[in-house]
Amino acid sequence: MNKLIKVNEAKKLDLKTVKNYYKEFISKSQVDFFESFSFGNDLIEKAEGSFLYTKDKKILDLTGGIGVLNHGHNHPNIIKERINFQNEKRMEVHKLFFSQYLAALSYNVAQLLPGDLNKSFFPNSGAEAIDGAIKLAYKYHKGNRKFILHSNISFHGKTIGATNISGSKEINFKYQEMNGVDKYDFNDFGSLKKKVLEIKEKNNSCYAIIVEPMSASTLRLSTEKFLKETRKLCEEEDIILIYDEIYSGWCKTGPLFNFLRSNTIPDILVYAKSFGGGKASISGYTTRDYVMEKAYDNPDDFSLQSTTFTGFGEESITSIEALNLIIERNYEEKSIASGILIETILKNLKKKHPGIIDELRGSGSFQGFTLKNVFNPIIEKLISNFIPIKRYKDENFFKKLLCASIINFLYKNSNILTFGSYATEVLFKISPTIEIDEKNLNELEIKLDECLSIGINSLIADFIKYKFSKKI
Ligand SMILES: Cc1ncc(COP(=O)(O)O)c(C=O)c1O
Repeated sequence: MNKLIKVNEAKKLDLKTVKNYYKEFISKSQVDFFESFSFGNDLIEKAEGSFLYTKDKKILDLTGGIGVLNHGHNHPNIIKERINFQNEKRMEVHKLFFSQYLAALSYNVAQLLPGDLNKSFFPNSGAEAIDGAIKLAYKYHKGNRKFILHSNISFHGKTIGATNISGSKEINFKYQEMNGVDKYDFNDFGSLKKKVLEIKEKNNSCYAIIVEPMSASTLRLSTEKFLKETRKLCEEEDIILIYDEIYSGWCKTGPLFNFLRSNTIPDILVYAKSFGGGKASISGYTTRDYVMEKAYDNPDDFSLQSTTFTGFGEESITSIEALNLIIERNYEEKSIASGILIETILKNLKKKHPGIIDELRGSGSFQGFTLKNVFNPIIEKLISNFIPIKRYKDENFFKKLLCASIINFLYKNSNILTFGSYATEVLFKISPTIEIDEKNLNELEIKLDECLSIGINSLIADFIKYKFSKKI
């Protein structure tokens, strides 16, 4: 056995060694993919607020940690509470004692959520909370109902349970199938109702319907009408309505949760990401009193839903502080204000670059645009020398290439980190922290305009040149 690496040595590893360790101990393909982008050839030394720092660069992070960083990187109040907790040598975990932190966090969540959404469970990842919600709904019906319905446009995570109810092409491999899963068309109540009735006619019934009020991968919104009709149907048929607000929660799209615009309340709300204030891997579901009581609140079943890390002290106090910040610093107002500015910026850019930007989508601090179809024989000829035909015959290939080229250009030339979605639809996304300063968003407008002004062919050629350039 070689000598193990110490923490202070890990902090000092250089890019070449890090990539080699990834290739040897994680995945070669991951390295191949990420090093095609300029950010895949940097190591981050420090992160604070909306910025990342390498040894010599300051980078504006407009990804918001893909939903995790509503509070920004390393929010000082959250760091302070964590350090206090450690210095006071608080008990991190013990299954045999009640935790004052878990009690307080559950209390806070219930105060923030409407109606009788009062009973919570806090695992660690979004997918785990989704699996928990599926189990809870199934158990509520004592296992007598066998069907769960999900949208054809949906992403709920990558555990076996969550992959089974995800409609995204991101999950491009058929894992072992769970029984009793069917799908409806996104935001189409007619299609949903038809499925529910078809299943009923076959002498079976649905235990749950899962909805993303805003589809995080495509930035498509379920209409208020759809949410209201679905709520009503669930009441009539005693079906558990689950909302997945893992990405859109905690003011990311403006209101505390996206569903609050609709005046509907789910039976189970699932959340994660910024619930951990950017420092803790904690997720959760909260359910109505009577659902929890019927499913698990009895001496035999109360422990059916538990995990080793549920109720870790430092994770819980991090979330307590994260929720307090959301309210004290009025994240709802901030996110709506950022949203208005981002929308104006994107509208301006769409006017200037109608050949690139297609549809604007999203709300609050989570927006983006789809791209025009930019198939071009010159580019096709250029890339056919480098990329296997199978890839560029993908109908979205040129959109993907253009999106990747914009992301790479912005990082390489302007130190701005953005990201995109490529699975179900191709979208360029802007998802800043809610703490972002307005002037940083104005900078985005200038730099994105400069980027798009160089033209589609030059942008793509620049990306291809970068992709095939020699890397460390
Ligand atoms: C809407 C939605 N649901 C579920 C998940 C899965 O969460 P996790 O990656 O924490 O398991 C994600 C992750 O991006 C998501 O955006």
